[in-house]
Amino acid sequence: LEIMDDKVSIGQVLSPVAAMQLALHVGANGVGHVAPNPLVGCVILDHEYRLLASGWHRKIGHDHAEVDALIQIANRDKLRGAHVFVTLEPCAHQGRTPSCAKTLATQGLSSLTYAVEDPNPLVAGQGADILRKSGVRVRLVSEHEQIGDADAHELVAGAEELAEIFLHNMRSKESFVAVKVASTLDGKMALASGESKWITNAKSREYTHLLRARYDAVAVGRNTFVTDDPSLNVRHGNFPSFENNVLIFDPMGHALSALAQSKVLQVRRPERVIVVVNSSLEFSNPLGVRLVPVSLGPKGSFEVGELLMALKNQGLTSIMIEGGAQTFAPFFAAKKVQRVHVFQAPLIIGGRHGVPWSSGFGVERMADGLRLERVSRKLFDEDSYLTGRVTYP
Ligand SMILES: NC(=O)c1ccc[n+]([C@@H]2O[C@H](COP(=O)([O-])OP(=O)(O)OC[C@H]3O[C@@H](n4cnc5c(N)ncnc54)[C@H](OP(=O)(O)O)[C@@H]3O)[C@@H](O)[C@H]2O)c1
Repeated sequence: LEIMDDKVSIGQVLSPVAAMQLALHVGANGVGHVAPNPLVGCVILDHEYRLLASGWHRKIGHDHAEVDALIQIANRDKLRGAHVFVTLEPCAHQGRTPSCAKTLATQGLSSLTYAVEDPNPLVAGQGADILRKSGVRVRLVSEHEQIGDADAHELVAGAEELAEIFLHNMRSKESFVAVKVASTLDGKMALASGESKWITNAKSREYTHLLRARYDAVAVGRNTFVTDDPSLNVRHGNFPSFENNVLIFDPMGHALSALAQSKVLQVRRPERVIVVVNSSLEFSNPLGVRLVPVSLGPKGSFEVGELLMALKNQGLTSIMIEGGAQTFAPFFAAKKVQRVHVFQAPLIIGGRHGVPWSSGFGVERMADGLRLERVSRKLFDEDSYLTGRVTYP
């Protein structure tokens, strides 16, 4: 998802496909500000398909995308016969803000097209019903007669991606897990000595800061916290004063004393530091960080399902794990990584003892390999970046 300026102007005629593409595009502007809500974009065209407004959910507790677009239209008469395109089904319920479906139902609209149904049981189909009952023609993109199958497929996939954290939370009740890795050309994330700075270039690292803002916490294993003493904050021009959460997997609570001298705590308040610890032990917590107790399984690793539910219950809708290899492994083994971000540098370090980022897990047959889908790529000078959704056979 990119944060970009709109290249279209008010009054311009848009096709239904272009309108939904624009809705997807503006929806991404809410990155970093809407959790636990979804990123949503909305475009309103008048009865002759001229652009009246685009809007997006800008911030939790603030207007939803539909209302954000509506309030930009000073002359509400223009809404008579208008067409609304929204990436997610309008909400039916009164939450932090009034029901969007009810607000839209009174505007004299002709049609509303949405890309993805809201799985939230408080909405699921009901937003669409409210609008239908008020006489608005409501349909999914796949049902729109001017949108072909291939375009509809792309638009639905784009809308699923835009709201992927929210959709995952709703469907699984667990935090969404992304993995981010900086790798050499030969797949390693550190030398045998533990040295790993720097594999990728400054541009790749700058983009990592943008990615960090997309997730509710950046997570690392205890060794990475100790070896690298990273800040793990968001240092990016798009997010000038963004204080993010850090999560450390630390069953024995070793980090609890080391935190006092750490960069992690120099750049954020203690309540933004979450330490996941073994639930069968007692810990003193003089710095007042957030402790999340989770059971250890037979291999001494946290029970991943319990962990992800506990994190979700702590209000963390998503985490991005940045390493190391030991920390990635149980999440892949438990099929709980939804997305990977891999930055790869044209650097070869060789040697038998360097650390491949996937060394902690593996499959027996090629058919069991974890293939990515919806892959996108970028180049940062000589480095290449790839992201995609992980599929599990
Ligand atoms: N290139 C990159 O992108 C990158 C990024 C990060 C780190 N690194 C490098 O990676 C190296 C460190 O990686 P590492 O694999 O040795 O260690 P690590 O993954 O940073 O930390 C592993 C430790 O964290 C705890 N832990 C993590 N996940 C756990 C789980 N699910 N259940 C229970 N405990 C868990 C355990 O602590 P206990 O031992 O206390 O049980 C475990 O031994 C460093 O050299 C660092 O520089 C590279």
